[in-house]
Amino acid sequence: MAPRQRNQVDPRDRRDLRLRNRSGIAGAKDGVPNMHWPAIPLDEIQARVRSALAGNTSFDADTMLGFPASVLDSRVFPPEPTMMSHAWLTVLQSNPNHIGCHTTGASEHAFGGTHELERDLLRICAEEILNAEPEGWDGYVASGGTESNLQAMWTHRNELRDGHGVDVSKMAILCSEDTHYSIDKAADVLGLRLVSLPVGEWDRAIDPQAVHAAAAQLVADGVKAVLVVLNLGTTMFGSVDDPEVVLPVLLEAGLTLRVHVDGAFGGFLFPFTAPDNRLSFADPRIDSFTLDGHKMLQAPYGTGIHLIRAGRIQYATTPGATYVPGADCTLIGSRSGSNAVAVWMILMAHGSDGGRALCQQLCDRTTHLHSALTQLGVRTYRRADMNIVAVRIEDLPNRVMDKHMLVPDRHDDTATWAKIIVMPHVTDAHIDTLCEDIASR
Ligand SMILES: Cc1ncc(COP(=O)(O)O)c(C=O)c1O
Repeated sequence: MAPRQRNQVDPRDRRDLRLRNRSGIAGAKDGVPNMHWPAIPLDEIQARVRSALAGNTSFDADTMLGFPASVLDSRVFPPEPTMMSHAWLTVLQSNPNHIGCHTTGASEHAFGGTHELERDLLRICAEEILNAEPEGWDGYVASGGTESNLQAMWTHRNELRDGHGVDVSKMAILCSEDTHYSIDKAADVLGLRLVSLPVGEWDRAIDPQAVHAAAAQLVADGVKAVLVVLNLGTTMFGSVDDPEVVLPVLLEAGLTLRVHVDGAFGGFLFPFTAPDNRLSFADPRIDSFTLDGHKMLQAPYGTGIHLIRAGRIQYATTPGATYVPGADCTLIGSRSGSNAVAVWMILMAHGSDGGRALCQQLCDRTTHLHSALTQLGVRTYRRADMNIVAVRIEDLPNRVMDKHMLVPDRHDDTATWAKIIVMPHVTDAHIDTLCEDIASR
C-alpha cells in the first residue's frame, strides 16, 4: 500500500465511521430519540484521535506560510510534556469556570484563584501594552477576536441607547473595507447599519474624501452616533488605520463617537515593534480593544481578549443572569479558566523584553522576505513593523499558493492578493524555498 501523506485521513477510518453510524437505526421514531452509538475500547479511541490528527497539516512539520496562528508557545507547551505544560493541564482538568467578568463587581468565588491570574493578564494587556490608566479598564478572555469585537459593539450600542437615549436606528458602524468580517456579523446581530470606507489599492489607507462623504451622508440621514472600528492590523494586509483621517472629520460633523480598535491581528506585535503606535488607551477618544492570544501569542484557541474603559461593560449586563454572582456582562457565558491561565503563563514565561525580542525577530525576518520578493519583481503591500506581506496573486506561479499554503483574499478566480505571515514556525529556510520557487517561474 502506498504510504499515506501527512494531511490525508486514513480512508479506513471514514469507512469505519460510516459502518458504525449505519449500525444505528436512523432518525427518531414516533418522536422517541433513537440513540445507538456503541462505546469503543479506549485504545481504539486514542488510535482514532491520532489518526484524525495525522490528517491535519502541521504548523511545524509541514509548510504553512499563510496562517495567523502557530504551534503553541514552546516555553509553556514544549513538544514533549514538561512540568510547565503539566501545570497547565492540571488547570484544564480541574475545569475552572470563568463565567462573567472578574475586573468589576462580584465573581463566583469557587474559582477565585484562577480569576486572579485572568485579572493580572488583562492588566498587563490594558496597562502595559495599551497604556491604560491603572484600573481604568474592564475586560475578560473571550472565545476569540470575533466575540471580542461583537462584545465591544454590543456594549457601545447599549451604552449609547440606555445611557444617552440614542435610538438604535440613529446609530451606525463605520470601518474600512479591509475590516474583518466579524464586524459585519456584529452589525447584523445588533441591527446596526454598517458603512464601509474604501481604501487605496496599494497603500490600503482609508480614503480621506470617503470619510468626508460618509460623515455628510450620515448626518443627512439623521444618524447621531457612530461606532468607529479602527484596525491595528487588518486580516489580509496588516495595515493600521490612522485615527486622524477618520475621527476629527466625524467629530466636526457633530457625531457622537465610540471608538473600538481591532487588534486581533496586530495587537500582540505592533505595540512591541512600533514604539510610536498611536492606537492605545492613551488616546482619550479610544474606548475599547480586541486582542487575540491565539494568534501572535501562540496561546490555545479560545483566547480572544476584550478590553474596554472602566464603567462601560455594565451596559452589557443581562439582568436574567440571576444565578451568576455579580451577574454576567459577557457574550459567552461559561468559559474555561484554562484559557486565561495559558495566556498568563505565556506572558510570564517571556516578560516584556522577551516578547519585544521575539516580535522584532519576526519583523526582521519579514523585512528580509519583503526585500527578496521585491527583487523578484513581485508586487506587494507591507506595513513596516508588521509580520505580514500581501502579494499580488498574478505575480506568483500557480503551484506556489498550494505548495506553501498561502492564503488568498477570496477562494475563487476573483482572488487578487495572497498573504504570507511570518509566524514563529516560519523559518529563513521556508522563505528561501518560497523565493526560489517564485524565481523559477
Ligand atoms: C483583524 C481581525 N479581527 C478579528 C478576527 C477574528 O478573530 P477570531 O478568528 O479569533 O474570532 C481576525 C481573525 O483573523 C482578524 O484578523
